[in-house]
Amino acid sequence: MQTSDDALRIENLSHWYGDFRVLNQINLRITPGQIVALVGPSGCGKSTLLKAILGTHPANEGRILVDGNQVRTPSRNVGIVYQHYSLFDFLTAEANVAFGLKLDESSLAFRMLMIPQWLKMRAKHIERARAFLDSVKLGAACGKYPAELSGGMRQRVAIAQALILKPKLVLLDEPFGALDEATRESLQMMLLGFYQENLKAKQEGRTPEYTILIVTHELNEAIYVANRVVGLSRFHDAGEQGAMIVYDRPCPIFLPDEPKDVESFVQQREELRKAVFDPSYVKHHSKYVSFWEQLSELAASS
Ligand SMILES: Nc1ncnc2c1ncn2[C@@H]1O[C@H](COP(=O)(O)OP(=O)(O)OP(=O)(O)O)[C@@H](O)[C@H]1O
Ligand SMILES: [Mg+2]
Repeated sequence: MQTSDDALRIENLSHWYGDFRVLNQINLRITPGQIVALVGPSGCGKSTLLKAILGTHPANEGRILVDGNQVRTPSRNVGIVYQHYSLFDFLTAEANVAFGLKLDESSLAFRMLMIPQWLKMRAKHIERARAFLDSVKLGAACGKYPAELSGGMRQRVAIAQALILKPKLVLLDEPFGALDEATRESLQMMLLGFYQENLKAKQEGRTPEYTILIVTHELNEAIYVANRVVGLSRFHDAGEQGAMIVYDRPCPIFLPDEPKDVESFVQQREELRKAVFDPSYVKHHSKYVSFWEQLSELAASS
């Protein structure tokens, strides 16, 4: 097992379906603790990129490293949450969250042959699942089944299920798309809370625990929940070759209880709209790719 400073490293990745080239020469580095929003026009290849990172559908060219290890198949290093919750209806919220721990930490043989030890371990899993659900304000829902929970609560449980295994990277593919506005906001707060925990870990010299790549089609949401926005698009001067990263910039950081001042980032939203979503705006793909330069400028000036 190798380790590296990067949670995710994508090198010269290209993918095509038949003759149709979807992704072209994608390069991206994400370090531990970053919460990155991925935006782009519908059909530009966001889900294709996520499936390649997850390891279920490897890309035709290039390579992907997660925590220094090349992704070839799905592994516990990468978790994913989709728009439509993926919980087991016959398990309670806490049992759903504990389910991954069970698969990760025990074998079928162990569970069948060492019943007292397994029961002890299971009690610990449930305890950890409860503590995690409590930390995302779902303590009261622990013993409930998915059918007894609201859409927002189910999606929180699904996120908890992915995070409790402490993957090196969590992928969220339009996770809040099916939720109403108020519920969506409460889940956005949850992400801001994770970012605050990451900052605290960094201050204390620990490796931040939550590294998240979230696909969203809501530009306000992208700027609000993430500390970095990446735009994928074919709207650049070599667009016929496939989508590339045409935008990569830092964005403002909010505290969970801070008022959401949408006006303060209208400028960035408009810039994103132009750089990523405007088919008539032809430019070199790297014109708005400046995250790492801006980060070192910020570090130099502080
Ligand atoms: N299995 C497949 N076979 C052939 N073409 C595919 C396949 N999966 C996706 N595509 C095509 O590849 C392109 C990218 O699809 P993808 O689902 O990655 O886009 P997306 O950015 O996630 O879109 P959306 O925002 O609508 O979810 C689309 O043109 C789509 O039709
Ligand atoms: Mg998609």
